[in-house]
Formats: sequence, C-alpha cells, structure tokens
Amino acid sequence: MLHLMAETHFDEWIARHYATLWPELFDPAFIEPTLEFLTELAGTGAALEFGVGTGRVALPLSRRGIPVHGIELSKPMLTQFRSQGGASDIGVTLGDFATTTVDGTFNLVYLLRNTITNLTSQDEQVECFENAARHLQPGGAFVIENFVPELRRLPPGETTHVFTATPTHVGVAEYDVVNQIEVSRHWWVVEGELKTFSSPHRYVWPAELDLMARLAGMALWERWSGWQREPFTSDSRSHVSVWKKVA
Ligand SMILES: C[S@@+](CC[C@H](N)C(=O)[O-])C[C@H]1O[C@@H](n2cnc3c(N)ncnc32)[C@H](O)[C@@H]1O
Repeated sequence: MLHLMAETHFDEWIARHYATLWPELFDPAFIEPTLEFLTELAGTGAALEFGVGTGRVALPLSRRGIPVHGIELSKPMLTQFRSQGGASDIGVTLGDFATTTVDGTFNLVYLLRNTITNLTSQDEQVECFENAARHLQPGGAFVIENFVPELRRLPPGETTHVFTATPTHVGVAEYDVVNQIEVSRHWWVVEGELKTFSSPHRYVWPAELDLMARLAGMALWERWSGWQREPFTSDSRSHVSVWKKVA
C-alpha cells in the first residue's frame, strides 16, 4: 500500500485562533447535540477521538464521565488542548490517526469536522477505517462528520466555488476532479490583520466511505444530515454517519 507521510496544516497560529476562526463550532446549540449523540454511542465504554485538536468535543465528553483518548498530529493543537482544565483526564497520543495505535478497546471511535479529508489519498482513508476497526470492540461504532462534495455547485468548466463571504472571512474551494482533491483557501481579517490559510482535502462521497467501512469489517448503521438526526437528503451539505463493527 502506498504510504504518504501524513501532515497537518494546523500550525501555531491556527491552533491559537481555532475558536475565533470557527466560532460556530463552539456554539453550545451545536455542541450539545454532538455530545448527546456521542454519549449514547459510547454507552458505558470508552471513546477514542481521531484528530482530537484542542479538545473542543473531547473535553466536554470526558466531563460527562466517558473515558476519552485522543490521537493528534499537530503539536500546537495539543499545546492548546493541554492548557485547558480537564485535559489531564484525557490520554493523548501524538501521531497519525490512520496508523497510530493506542492501548485498549473502545465502544466508540469518532472523527469530526471533515477531518477524514485531511488524509489526501484513498489508501490513507482506507487505513483510517482499518485503524478505527482495530480499536473497536465488536458492535462498537465509528462516527464520521463530513461534508458532501459540492461539485453540483460548480458551473460546467469551472473549478472554484465561494463557500463563505463575510467582511472578515472569504473562503474559496478549488476542485481538482481528476485527483479528487479540494483545496480550501481562506482569507481572514483577525485583529485588524489579513491572514491566509489553505489546506488540501481528499473529498469523498458517503458511498465511498461505506465501501471503506465494508473493507474494514464494518457496516453502515445510520446516516443523518446533522447531530439531531435530521434526515439526510439529496440537498444535505454534510452528514453524520455511523458504521458498526460487525460482530
Ligand atoms: C478540523 S480539526 C478538528 C479538531 C477537533 N476534532 C474538533 O472537532 O474541533 C482537524 C484536526 O485533525 C488533526 N489531524 C489532521 N490530520 C491528522 C492525522 N493524519 N493524524 C492525526 N491528526 C490529524 C489536525 O491537526 C487538527 O487538529
């Protein structure tokens, strides 16, 4: 299997400004249903977060009494994580979640906010599913929150699409449909300064994820468009999918 070196674009500046750049992710009205959903699946067992970041979800999940472990590649994100109360209750392993293993078995492995697409090859995404299955006990759940590729928004012959445009944030997606890569380009005005950031993503449809799950010995359990189990339809722009490890 071709193995590319995983990399993260979450540098020191992004880590420090994570909550400022994506404030909607920290809205309690968004986080609470996420926690409810994950808590239910963890049951009385432990949870493993791939790409735990600053602990936006891992910390409150742990506060609910669920043993949580995280895998993360970015040292600056982990520095932010460790600066918060409750971080010492969560074990964290520095590494690539496609390949890094940790001790123990889990009822739940979860991967939020399009982070599966940070793995920019199909091989790495397949490995990630295999790694999730490796850590789950039979019947355990793997949850992914991911965007639906927005190719239907591209007029014929065009490769870019503006996904946000506010006075302080412009975001443009550039699609390379031959290589199944989308590059997200951001321009933010933060504290009066212009900051640019781009990251490559391997966009992936739900059906391809289902096949990866099957390769790893898991089967689709449920798919919604959001954490409150809103129906997933042809207009849904993102999905929350749950696969369970076949007993
Ligand atoms: C969009 S952030 C999400 C962080 C956190 N899960 C949340 O929901 O707020 C993606 C995180 O995944 C990490 N990451 C990306 N690729 C990774 C990889 N291959 N292995 C481990 N962590 C990775 C990034 O460094 C970043 O912290």
